[in-house]
Amino acid sequence: MYTMIGTASPADHPAVAALLDASGLPRRDVTDALLAHFLVAKGGDELLGVIGLEPLGDVGLLRSLVVAASHRGRGLGIELTRALERHARDQGVAQLFLLTTTAERFFGKLGYETIPREDAPPPIQGTTEYRELCSSTSICMVKTLD
Ligand SMILES: CC(C)(COP(=O)(O)OP(=O)(O)OC[C@H]1O[C@@H](n2cnc3c(N)ncnc32)[C@H](O)[C@@H]1OP(=O)(O)O)[C@@H](O)C(=O)NCCC(=O)NCCS
Repeated sequence: MYTMIGTASPADHPAVAALLDASGLPRRDVTDALLAHFLVAKGGDELLGVIGLEPLGDVGLLRSLVVAASHRGRGLGIELTRALERHARDQGVAQLFLLTTTAERFFGKLGYETIPREDAPPPIQGTTEYRELCSSTSICMVKTLD
C-alpha cells in the first residue's frame, strides 16, 4: 500500500495523540490550530507517522516526529522530516530548531547541528516544549534551510 504524506486535519487528532502517547512525546499543547502545521503519513486509513512545526516568524520548532513502531527503518522518518522542511520554508521559516532526547544521531544525519539550549532564540525558548515539556537534559539542534 502507498504511503501518502499530507497535512493533518482535526479528524486526525485522536490518532496523532495516540501515536505521540505511544512514544512518550508531549501533546498537551497540540491544539487543532497547531495541527494545521502537522504532517501525517498514512497507509490507507492507518496513521503511520507524524511530524509537526511551530512556525514563529523566521524560525520554527520541529516537533512531534514519530513513526509507528511497525513501520520504522524504512525511510519514513527521513521523508517526514524533509516534507516538514519544505512546509517550513513555505511558511517563511529560515532556521528550524528542535529538542530531542532520543534522536540526536537521526537528525545529525539530516544536517542538524547540536547547540547549547541557551543559544536557542527567544521565540523558541518561549515555546511550551522548550519551557515545560522537555527535560532540561534534552539536546537542542538547529538547521538553516536552503
Ligand atoms: C526517530 C524515528 C522517527 C525515525 O523514524 P524511521 O522511519 O525509523 O527512520 P528512517 O527509517 O527514516 O531512518 C533513517 C536513518 O536513521 C536511523 N535512525 C532511525 N532512528 C534513529 C535514532 N533514534 N537514532 C539514530 N539513528 C536513527 C536509521 O537507522 C536510518 O539510518 P540508515 O539510513 O543509515 O540506515 C523513529 O525511530 C521514532 O518514531 N522513534 C520514536 C519517537 C522519537 O524518538 N522521535 C524523535 C523525537 S524528537
